[in-house]
Amino acid sequence: MKCGGKGSLRWGAGLALASLLVGAGAAYGEPNDNKLVIDGQTLTTEAAAPEGVELDKLYSGWRFRSPETQELQTDDFENPAMVAVDQGAELWGTVDGSAGKSCMSCHGEAEASMKGVRAGYPKWSDKRGKPHTLETQINECRTDRMEADAWKWESSNMLGMTAFVGLQSRGMPVKVQTDGPMAQWHAKGKELYFTRVGQLNMSCANCHQENYGKMIRADHLSQGHINGFPVYRLKWGGLGSSHRRFKGCMENIRATPFKRGSDEFVALELYLASRGAGLSVETPSVRN
Ligand code: HEC
Ligand code: HEC
Repeated sequence: MKCGGKGSLRWGAGLALASLLVGAGAAYGEPNDNKLVIDGQTLTTEAAAPEGVELDKLYSGWRFRSPETQELQTDDFENPAMVAVDQGAELWGTVDGSAGKSCMSCHGEAEASMKGVRAGYPKWSDKRGKPHTLETQINECRTDRMEADAWKWESSNMLGMTAFVGLQSRGMPVKVQTDGPMAQWHAKGKELYFTRVGQLNMSCANCHQENYGKMIRADHLSQGHINGFPVYRLKWGGLGSSHRRFKGCMENIRATPFKRGSDEFVALELYLASRGAGLSVETPSVRN
């Protein structure tokens, strides 16, 4: 087998992690130094690592993208995710369901009522006896309060709404509760993050904690934070949730992925949010 050439490597059973990594030398080791400024607002793309997280420093995934991809996120007119945000904004004011209400009927202008909300999710729900993701919270409002149908996790309505709600927190630091009733969910997420799975027998940490900065096939490995979700992926040609990304990463290591919205992915989402605490919410971000 040829070594070192980009594109000469393939995913496959039995390949050691070392052979997946390309150009592990210093040239690729660092995130780039570009500043993320959107509409005059500077976002925090590097921060001190929270206690208990074994990283020298936190870096947003944006810092590992090429300048061309980065630029798409610095200008809302260029950002391809804004079409979905507009759809979310329209849904916000649209009456749906037997109760004859829209989100706006109860929450008023999202710019005020939804400010800061994204930064604190997943969030404990006494009613559910488990954490709410933004998706399940929105669906609870739809089914229980609007008497409307729940939206599917990865539907364009849900992605448009989570992007629109998320945008109201853009620039605010991620900060989730990890104590109290959230403690066991956080612990579960941490366990999943460090457990090796799949035919390649790898954990999230093997790539995103131990090898970020290196090239894996043609991709620059980031720390795998979720502060930009839902993200617009050029590869997907649209928005996707963090759970879709988790699923893709698990499939790449030939593991059987958990389902979107499963307790496992909710726990992982909580743990990942806590690992990225202090980075700005970037929703909706753009990735390759
Ligand atoms: C009939 C009134 C009503 C409607 C309509 C409604 N909501 Fe809510 N929503 C609430 C209430 C009340 C809460 C607070 C629930 C709680 O804290 O337990 C809430 C909470 C939320 C939260 C969590 C806020 C936070 O601080 O964590 C989000 C997000 C949300 N709603 C989004 C929506 C969206 C999106 C829609 C439309 C699809 C919608 N809601 C429609 C009443 C409503
Ligand atoms: C074999 C290496 C590998 C493993 C193992 C892996 N990933 Fe990834 N992951 C990638 C690559 C490559 C990308 C795309 C480049 C990047 O953003 O790091 C990515 C991207 C991501 C992103 C998007 C980051 C952003 O800024 O948009 C998240 C979130 C993520 N991974 C989470 C996970 C989770 C959770 C696990 C464990 C279940 C995991 N990954 C396991 C290789 C891996």
